[in-house]
Parts: sequence; C-alpha cells; structure tokens
Amino acid sequence: MSRYLVCMTGASGAAYGLRVLALLAEQGAEIHLVATDWGRAVLREETGSELGSHLAALGPRLGGLVRLHEAGDLAAPVSSGSFRLDGTVIVPCSMGTAGALAAGLSANLVQRAGAVALKEGWPLVLVPRESPLSLVALRNLVALSEAGAVILPACPAFYHKPSTVDELVDQIAQRVLDRLGAPAPGALRWKDEGEERE
Ligand SMILES: Cc1cc2nc3c(=O)[nH]c(=O)nc-3n(C[C@H](O)[C@H](O)[C@H](O)COP(=O)(O)O)c2cc1C
Repeated sequence: MSRYLVCMTGASGAAYGLRVLALLAEQGAEIHLVATDWGRAVLREETGSELGSHLAALGPRLGGLVRLHEAGDLAAPVSSGSFRLDGTVIVPCSMGTAGALAAGLSANLVQRAGAVALKEGWPLVLVPRESPLSLVALRNLVALSEAGAVILPACPAFYHKPSTVDELVDQIAQRVLDRLGAPAPGALRWKDEGEERE
C-alpha cells in the first residue's frame, strides 16, 4: 500500500488540499495529514466548515485511510525519516511555510516533514499560492527547487475549457498526483500527436 503525507497550510486554496486528499484516499493509499493552525483557519474561511467535517464527509471507508496529526506534534511518526513515505505534498503552501523550509526551520510538523522529505530524497511537491511574488518568495522557491522540491503553483490552465471551479481544482490536484508518482487516471492531458485537436 502506498503511503503519503498531505500537509495543508494557511495559503488560499484549501480546496486543492481537500481534493488531493480525496483522490489519494480513492486509490486506497494510507494518508497522513497535518494542517497548520492557519491552514485550518483559511479552510474554515473558504469552505465554511471545519477540517473535521471534511474528513467525516469522506465516509468511513475513505476517512479510515486518513491519520490526522497535530501540527505541534513533532514526535509524530512523519517527523522521522525512518517512517518511510512514497511522497509528501504541501497543498496549499503558504509563503511563510516555504520561507521556513528554505531556511531549514523545523518549528512545526509541516516544516519538519518537508525537511525530512528533502533529506530523504522522496518526492516533495509544494503548491504555493501567492500573487504577486516578492523577490524573497521567489528566492525561497528557487532554493527549494534546487534542494529537490517540485514547485507546482496553483495555476490551472484554461485550454481544457473548464466550466466549473471544481474542474480547475481537480486539474491541479491531478498534477500533484502525477508528481507524487501516484496514479492520476483523471488527469487532463494534451492530445497525443496524430489525434485530431478541437
Ligand atoms: C484568508 C487568508 C488568506 C491567506 N492567503 C494566503 C495566500 O494565498 N498565500 C500565503 O502565502 N499566505 C496567505 N495567508 C497568510 C498565511 O495564512 C500566514 O502567513 C500564516 O502565517 C501561514 O502560516 P502557516 O504556513 O504555518 O500555515 C492568508 C491568510 C488568511 C487569513
């Protein structure tokens, strides 16, 4: 069974994190979840519901695959590289968390888990959401890319002609699965050569 860590921080775009969680659960993966205080607060602001309600909405079968850890619990299993993961994603990723990671801080479990992914060399996908990006933020993202992280901004494309917000959210979530190395059968892909384009 594959095992992933999903981290949600206080950038806008909680829906992306929830969608990644649901897609991984639908695949039967073991999922560890950490949300920072501001991750929970922005999720509440954007969806009108608490994280616990969203987890309950997954139902007992899928929800049973998710193990929630407190952001302050630096003794959680995912705090150690000896607890092997197939990949870690921070979605959405605030500039605060990106900056902490780039500086090598481990002040909470998300920062520590990101640092662990970098040192262990398993996939680390960051989904930053900020605009415009300051030079500081850009440099932090470059440093993280150089250290091995995949920077996958929450920037959906429009050439698939999306008609709902859910489609935009799903598009980014499927790309995250791609870069985690998880199956993404629902990913929209540009047509193969030879196929007729609309
Ligand atoms: C409604 C709301 C939206 C926010 N959106 C963003 C955002 O899009 N990007 C960002 O980097 N920070 C955003 N922030 C600020 C972060 O939540 C803040 O920097 C926080 O300290 C991040 O902490 P964390 O990384 O531990 O979750 C937002 C805050 C609020 C209250």
